Parts: sequence; C-alpha cells; structure tokens
Amino acid sequence: MSSDSANRLVLKDREQNPAYRTVVFYFYIMKIVTVIGARPQFIKAAALSRILRTDSSFHEILLHTGQHYDQNMSEIFFRELEIPSPDYNLEVGSGSHAVQTGLMLKGVEEIIQKEKPDWTLVYGDTNSTLAGALASVKLKVPVAHVEAGLRSFNREMPEEINRIVTDRIADLLFAPTKTAVQNLENEGLAAITRFTGDVMYDSILFYRDKMLLHPKAYKTDGIPDKYFLATIHRAENTDHPEILKNLLTAFSETGQSVVLPIHPRTRKVLTGSIKIPSNIILIDPLGYMEMLLLTQNSIKVLTDSGGLQKEAYFLGIPCITLRKETEWIETVHDNWNIVTGSDPEQIIQAIHQPYPTVPRKEEFGDGHAAEKIINALK
Ligand code: UD1
Repeated sequence: MSSDSANRLVLKDREQNPAYRTVVFYFYIMKIVTVIGARPQFIKAAALSRILRTDSSFHEILLHTGQHYDQNMSEIFFRELEIPSPDYNLEVGSGSHAVQTGLMLKGVEEIIQKEKPDWTLVYGDTNSTLAGALASVKLKVPVAHVEAGLRSFNREMPEEINRIVTDRIADLLFAPTKTAVQNLENEGLAAITRFTGDVMYDSILFYRDKMLLHPKAYKTDGIPDKYFLATIHRAENTDHPEILKNLLTAFSETGQSVVLPIHPRTRKVLTGSIKIPSNIILIDPLGYMEMLLLTQNSIKVLTDSGGLQKEAYFLGIPCITLRKETEWIETVHDNWNIVTGSDPEQIIQAIHQPYPTVPRKEEFGDGHAAEKIINALK
C-alpha cells in the first residue's frame, strides 16, 4: 500500500470516530455573510457584529451594497458604532427599485459564490435585504432574517413587499416583537420563527450610555433649547410635493422650532418648489449618536421612520407618526405614539395632546436580542 493510501485510510478511520467528529464540530468556525446597505441596517448590524467578532466560533464577512453612500448616510455610522469597515462594497448607489435591486443581486451572488458562507444574515426591509436574501437562497445558502414578521398591511410601501418576500424565502426568522411572531404564524411560518426581542433596543441601551458619558461630543450646532424633532423620508410622503407641503404647514403650528435633519431624497423635492416655514431648522442628516442626543432632548418627535418611532419610545419621548399605519403597534398607547398620516389637522391635534402619564410597555425584549440570535445560529 502506498503511504498516500495508508494516510487516507487513517483519515477515514478518524472521521468515523465519534470523538474526532466532536472535536471537529467543536472547532468549526461558522462563516457568515452579513448584507447591509442603508442607515437603519448599520444600527441593527452593530448589535450583532460586536458579539460575532469576539466569538471565535464565527467569522463574519460584511458586505455593504452601497445603497446609502453619502458620508453622513453611511461612513459616520461605521465610525460611531465601531463597525469594522466592510469587506466588500458593491457601490450600487441610487436608481429605480429594479435597477438598484438588480445590481445588488448580481453583486451579492458573486460574493456568496466566492465566500461560500454557512449563513447569510439580512436585516429589516430595504432593497438590500431583499437582494441579499434572494441571491443567497438561490445559491442554496440559508438565510437568517433579523427583524422578521413586521407588517404594515400596506402593499404600496416598497418595504412591505421586501419584508413579505424575504420572510417567505428565508430559513430562519428572528422576530423582534410578539406581534411580529403572530404575523409569521398567520403566514404559516411558525416552525422557523424565533422570538428574540429587538436588536435596536440592544443598540440603544449600549450606545445611549456611551452618548451620555460625553454628550458634548455629540452636540449639533445651532439647535435651540426647546424644539420638536422631525424626519421625513418615506416615498409616500416625499413623492408628492402637496403632501410634503401639508407636513411643513402642520410643523409651523407647533409654536416652537422644528429641527429637521434632511434626507437627500427629501432635500431634492424641497429644493425650489416649497416655501419652508421660518420655524423649521433644516440640517444635514446626522449620525446615530447625534440623533440619539437630539431625540433625548426634544419636546416630541414627528417622523415617518420606523426606527425613530422606536428610538423615541425607548428614550421616553412622545412620537407622532406621519404615516397611515405603523408596524410598531406596541408603541401606540396613551399618547406615546399617535399615528396621524399626513393630515395637517390630525398632526396639529397630536402636537397639542398632553404628555403620557402611563409607563411604557416592555415589549421589545431584554436588551439581549443579539445574543439570542447568535445562539440560535450556533
Ligand atoms: C431606504 C429604504 C427605507 C429605509 C431608508 C432608511 C428601500 C426601498 N428603502 O430608503 O426602507 O427606511 O433607506 O434611510 O430600500 N440618496 C443620496 N445619498 C445616499 C442615499 C440616498 O443622495 O447616501 C438619495 C438618492 O437620491 C436616492 C434617494 O436618496 O435616490 C433615496 O435613496 P434609497 O436608498 O433609494 O431609499 P431611501 O429613501 O433612503
């Protein structure tokens, strides 16, 4: 027998030995490709990345699609949240949904073919989420979806389509709330659903403490002592100048300054055509820590963002949601979150509602959602 065949026999013998298999299993390093691309995904991925990178049983590869690419829409989050630089950046940039998603699909496929991960991790409901999940399952790499099961039941939102498709094709669904679990059960997905709590709650607990240690470092210039904080970026609000005008008119009735960090898509629509009321202070988009501080110090928040609705709730600041519905229905009680749509009268009424006196509910987990997700993957 040649020494080569003898070696192979010994190896085969060892592989059949259960003790050897246990050792191999024990040292197995799980390779994960994390697909991110837009602001809220950086915040969610930060909670998991921090743990994945200190756990020697994982090797995480960060894939940035480049959906958000401005310095203050992307890089600032990596710096502040101490997320390592992405291993890959597809730099797809802006475009129609089909163009943007198509370019991402092509790019993600190439990286997954090259890296051959054990799992692909996707977050939330953006075009990057959908592309990451679709490219991966087609290559038979299982997909885990963090923040699964959210539903607005409004199929006009591109995000709703992204969520439904991603949940349907993923292999493991991590639900942030009991409502999300229920939605997935209703769709026949109970067997692959795990309730973990919300990774955005993990993030806020971790970074709020950091922010409070050095609040001066995160102070934005030109902000008055008393103000409402507003953000508008959803297509349903920005794609119609009339709606945007209504929102600004309502903001002018607050009797206070309204600080509006402005998303590039909203800036495009606002430029030229709409007169900005004098109490509105337009500023550039901010990093996560600056936004936390600005939220914490505001009178109330007016927003169409899902993330900011929750951040306001976690920080104990009442919110007015400038959409017809919300996926985060746990926050809608006792004036903590009032859903008004874009109707100026309803918004003005909500602005003048008294502060809630009833405590907030603790329905977003225990601040350890990331650990639960990682244990489930293990
Ligand atoms: C995307 C997500 C939305 C999420 C939001 C967070 C989808 C369908 N939507 O919306 O769910 O709440 O991110 O912010 O995935 N732009 C720039 N610079 C940038 C990024 C965008 O100038 O760095 C401009 C471009 O003109 C672009 C527009 O903003 O066309 C919209 O960007 P896009 O990424 O398509 O969607 P968002 O509105 O940011």
